[in-house]
Parts: sequence; C-alpha cells; structure tokens
Amino acid sequence: MDLTHRPRRLRQDRVRDLVSETSLEPADLIAPVFVDATTDERIPIESMPGHDRVPIDGIVARVEDVLETGVEAVMLFGIPESKDPEGSRAWADDGVVQESVRRITSETDAYVITDVCLCEYTDHGHCGPLEAELRSEGGLEDGPACEPTMTVDNDATLAALEQIVTSHARAGADMVAPSGMMDGMVGTIRSALDEAGFEHVPIMSYAAKYESAFYGPFRDAADGAPAFGNRRHYQMDPANAREAVREVRLDAEQGADVMMVKPALPYLDIISTIRREFDHPVAAYNVSGEYAMLHAAAEKGWLELEAVATESLLSIKRAGADLILTYFAEDVAQRL
Ligand code: PBG
Repeated sequence: MDLTHRPRRLRQDRVRDLVSETSLEPADLIAPVFVDATTDERIPIESMPGHDRVPIDGIVARVEDVLETGVEAVMLFGIPESKDPEGSRAWADDGVVQESVRRITSETDAYVITDVCLCEYTDHGHCGPLEAELRSEGGLEDGPACEPTMTVDNDATLAALEQIVTSHARAGADMVAPSGMMDGMVGTIRSALDEAGFEHVPIMSYAAKYESAFYGPFRDAADGAPAFGNRRHYQMDPANAREAVREVRLDAEQGADVMMVKPALPYLDIISTIRREFDHPVAAYNVSGEYAMLHAAAEKGWLELEAVATESLLSIKRAGADLILTYFAEDVAQRL
C-alpha cells in the first residue's frame, strides 16, 4: 500500500490548530435576551435551561453578564405588559424594548440588535394584524370557526413595522432585525429608517426563515405562539432550498445588510448556499429547539453538553455563517 499521503500527519496535537479551517470567536456570537414587562423578578424558562425572562429593571445586569463572557452583541426580545389585535405596544416609545434599549445603551457598551416582529405583541400571536382571506383556501385554516378564514395582512403589517423600527432606532438600537417574513419588509424598513435620519442603522434580515417546529421553546419563552393556525403562510416551507436564494435576493435588492438563515443545524445546506451565492455577511440562528434538545439529551447523560454545543456552533460556521445567534453564546464564549 502506498502511504505517501498520510492525512494523520496534520492531526498531531501541535499542528492541528495551525491547519484548522474554521474557528469560533466570542465576537462572532450574538446572545438573545428576553425582557419581560409583566414581571418584577427573573422567570426561568423551563425549556431553555440557563435562560430567564428578565424584568426591565434587571436588563442592564443581564447584558453586563453577557459582556463579561466576551460576547459583545445581544438580540433583544420583548414581552409587553399588554397585547391587542394590532400589537400596538410594539411601537410605543415607552414599550418594553424601547425602554430596555435606552437603558442598555446608556449603561453598557453592548451592541444592541432588536428583533422586529409583532407576534409577541398581538393577542392572536400572529406576526401582524389579521385580515379576512378572500379565498377560503390559503388562510390560517385551523382557525376559529369563522368564515372567511383569516390571514396576516401584509401591507398593514408593513405600516406597523415602519413604526416599530423607527421607535427602536430612536431609543438607540444599533441594528434592527425584522423577523416577520412579510413581503417588502426590508425595503419598507430601509426607507422608514432613512427618512427618520437613521441611515446608519443596519438591517439584519431574517431572510430565509423557515416554518419550523424547532421554535417551540422560544414561543413559550416569548409568549408568542399563534393562538390558532400556524405560520406557514408567511414563513418558508422546509422543503424548499431554491426559494431561500430568491428570498435573500429580494432582501439584497431592498437593502438588507446581513442575511440570516433560521434555524441553523437542520438548514446547514441553506447557509452554505447563501454563503456561496451572495457576498453579504451571513448570520445563522441556532434556535431554541436546537438548544433545548442538546440540553435534554445532556440531562439524561446521553450527550456531553459542552462538546456538542461547541461542535454545533463550529459546524454552523463551517457551513458558511459569519455570525451566530445562539443561546449557547455565553457558555461557549467563556470557554474560548
Ligand atoms: C418571531 C421570532 C421567533 C423566533 C425568533 N423571532 C418565533 C417564531 O417565528 O415563531 C424563534 C427563535 C427561537 O426559536 O429561538 N419574532
């Protein structure tokens, strides 16, 4: 046998790092944090061990803990004190996210990204105000027994998103991240920001966001589960890959600065395709279900948590992500 080629030469301890193709840095990680206007105390999120909903008074301390680990950016999700059909607390200048952003930016150096969506703010839990669907097909068909069926009103949602992003920017958000998968969302937000004098605020678009069952724990955490139906009329079909390219292209044309793929691990092929086809920074969202399943297996003693967490994030980077949003951010950063 010809053993001229021995790949094991480069796997020896002293040379492995020299030839490693991918590395994880705390600066690549974004920590999602939940701020809850309905509580005065931290509420542990059962399905996401180590994560809490924190009260507005606790948000600065929470972000300081993130910074302590070397992670420099947070993604802020808010749970409002009240909900209505339009989700009007989402754009209130004294809303939970707006108030938190003001506090975080005045008291810390964190880079603050805000999730821009209505599902935590509407009483029906959908990502925008509803309208009656004209055709009986194509609506949120598992809905209440009402005729005709309901669906999210795209253009009314765009008008709400304009108000939300400008309120976040006024509060001092460094970047906005629209996650509602409405048509024309990025262009609308870009114009609204520019007109309000926030040309410098970048948009990280949840460009290829799938209708995924891996969001389960998050929906408990953020209290944003749809009260009826599902999100498959606006989020992408897990069966589709070419459609992700089309979605990202539309967002690129509309001025998105960072393209996100979500979830991450079940969609590594999508991350890799987007990396190849576009020259924008690519972010991947390692979502709540991906976090919860590793924790659950580790709790049973079936997986070693630190190892699988690091390996997961490394795989997401290897697939082509520049940035990773992950609930493991602090744990992993601390070990790097
Ligand atoms: C919507 C939003 C969701 C997540 C982030 N932003 C939930 C959804 O689309 O239902 C999921 C994040 C996760 O699962 O970690 N505002």
